[in-house]
Amino acid sequence: MDGVLKFPEKFLWGTATSPTQVEGHVVNEWTDYLASDGGHCRTACNHYHRYEEDVDWMAQLGVNAYRMGIEWSRLQSAPFAPLNPKELDRYVHLLDCLKVKGITPMVVLHHFSNPPWITSAGGWLNPATIPAFVDYVTKLVSALRDRVWLWNTFNEPDTYASLTYLLGGFPPFHKWRFASYRKVIKHMAEAHVQASRVIRSEARGGNGAKAPEVGIAKNWTYFEAFQKFAVWDHLLALAAHYAFNHFVLDTFLGGRRCEASTYLGVNYYGRARLNHFQALVPTNGVSDERLNQLGIVCDDMFERHPSGFGPLLKKFQQRYRLPIYITEHGAASTNDDFRIRDLKQHLHELRGALDDGVDVRGFFYWSLLDNFEWQFGYSKKFGLLSVDFNDEKLPRKMTRVGEFYRSICAGRAEDSREVIPGLAAR
Ligand code: NOJ
Repeated sequence: MDGVLKFPEKFLWGTATSPTQVEGHVVNEWTDYLASDGGHCRTACNHYHRYEEDVDWMAQLGVNAYRMGIEWSRLQSAPFAPLNPKELDRYVHLLDCLKVKGITPMVVLHHFSNPPWITSAGGWLNPATIPAFVDYVTKLVSALRDRVWLWNTFNEPDTYASLTYLLGGFPPFHKWRFASYRKVIKHMAEAHVQASRVIRSEARGGNGAKAPEVGIAKNWTYFEAFQKFAVWDHLLALAAHYAFNHFVLDTFLGGRRCEASTYLGVNYYGRARLNHFQALVPTNGVSDERLNQLGIVCDDMFERHPSGFGPLLKKFQQRYRLPIYITEHGAASTNDDFRIRDLKQHLHELRGALDDGVDVRGFFYWSLLDNFEWQFGYSKKFGLLSVDFNDEKLPRKMTRVGEFYRSICAGRAEDSREVIPGLAAR
């Protein structure tokens, strides 16, 4: 069929969530947190009780993969404690429901949250967190090794370490503690290497046929100066690139550490351009009007930069020689046309990278559901399914983006080279 976006037959078309954002009923550092819209995560989408229904929705979408977190705080009540059998059973049942629908799980072991006993002992600044995490992983892998072969240790360590210790957005809300930022990244990288060793030796994988795979999910943001001759903005962009991209990748994957991972997960949302030291993005409070005037195309959070996606994948392939999973991409907007165009453009870039020989094995749309977007609460709409948070029954509804994604998963979606025609389309 001419014009249809074609992908390899075994490609994983998935969607993604994280426990704190969708499950509800979690006890971690986010439980008492109030977001900028007044929302909290105590009920979220109630995926904790409604996962069976949500798996049915995934089957309706036609995805063959689901990137899901397992919440450490549910499973261990103290360092080196046995796993809580009731909570473990619930996750096992979720994995079994996925299996019935032919959906491959990718399990994330750390997604921005920790058990309270880790937080009160200093979190990831404390080197004792490393053996505690590895112990948790060892027990979990041994319990799930017949059901899971695709493991993701850390989600966006750079986002986590920067929002906790540099930018003050995540608990414990510290600012400009560069030494703490570095320490958290280093401890997480060490935990990744040790946990990967356990996963690769302990896990046998799904039906026994699949060798375990393990990697991190690295968020990649391009940092650039908005104005060509703004020297200070160029310098700041270089510094941000060094701290958030280069240093993090080097700490996790540099030298022999690269041998710990079997793949690289990439979360890609776009670009932040700097103007007089300010990032020109909506999450930084820059208004739609101003962005429009400057010709900067954004969703409700970040600047979109589809043309940077293909080159980035090529660069990663050349540098790390690891297979790649797109562990997250999505757009937050109530304008479904905008989100569909954004997705088409990124998939077009992805298809191009595959044509150029980049070994990309899967794509996980963020997110299955509208959910608790950390500091921004429920105001950012990323879902393939919308959730009505004003209705206590939290009804889910298929969006047009979800329908479009269904056509992608079924191999029916058409290629598109169109360019987003400016913010008017939001
Ligand atoms: C990356 C994070 O992993 C996820 O938790 C978040 O909701 C999305 N980006 C969107 O900001």
